[in-house]
Amino acid sequence: MAIDTNEAFLLILVLLLLLRECFTVADDTLSMGESLSAYTGDYLSSDNHKFELGYFKRSNSSNIYLGIWYKGIEDQRIVWVANRENYLSDPYSSRLEFSNDGNLVLLQTSSEIPFWSTNLRHLPSNSTEATLLDDGNFVLRDRSNLSTIFWESFDHPTDTWLPGAKLGIDKVGKVPKQLISWRNSEDPSPGVFSFGLDPNGVIQFILESINSHV
Ligand SMILES: *[C@@H]1O[C@H](CO)[C@@H](O)[C@H](O)[C@H]1NC(C)=O
Ligand SMILES: *[C@@H]1O[C@H](CO)[C@@H](O)[C@H](O)[C@H]1NC(C)=O
Repeated sequence: MAIDTNEAFLLILVLLLLLRECFTVADDTLSMGESLSAYTGDYLSSDNHKFELGYFKRSNSSNIYLGIWYKGIEDQRIVWVANRENYLSDPYSSRLEFSNDGNLVLLQTSSEIPFWSTNLRHLPSNSTEATLLDDGNFVLRDRSNLSTIFWESFDHPTDTWLPGAKLGIDKVGKVPKQLISWRNSEDPSPGVFSFGLDPNGVIQFILESINSHV
């Protein structure tokens, strides 16, 4: 039986779609020169397939966030958000990639200024990679020595304390690592509740309602 033009066209389309599926990043590591695009729904998957890092939206909002969630849980339980205060709006040009200085940057073509960045100085440029580890920690590390971690999402928690992460005052001092609730279940921007070590040095965890307008 001969395949007519329409059928051939359909077949090619299906093949192209399948190929695109194959090329959507589903590795645990992003390397220099690669990027995660919001348009093609690229994501990283931890080696144990427990966590994924990619783009998400909530309800009817078109605001786009980069985050980490438990894989396969139906209501997509988000455990970390990179750009909770600075959402993206254009899926076609939104991407996570490396800047020339080795930092991870979240960009939208319309803006030169990153929507989010690891924002470190003195990185060994061309020698960093970013990996989503099995415990849900997203790390920027030295490609030539994987135990050298320059930045980790566990140091910048959102509203979720994952096993293995430490709260408290971070190594560099001053900035208390704390959990801050979402504004509401549909909006990851910072809400009114925080949980963390008392910044005055008293060893106790405090749960406080931040005095702000909601
Ligand atoms: C990083 O590598 C790219 C391509 O491999 C090269 O064009 C660029 O100059 C390098 N940058 C630095 C700072 O070495
Ligand atoms: C790798 O990095 C770790 C932690 O920064 C360091 O202790 C170790 O000496 C490094 N190893 C090599 C071979 O450079």
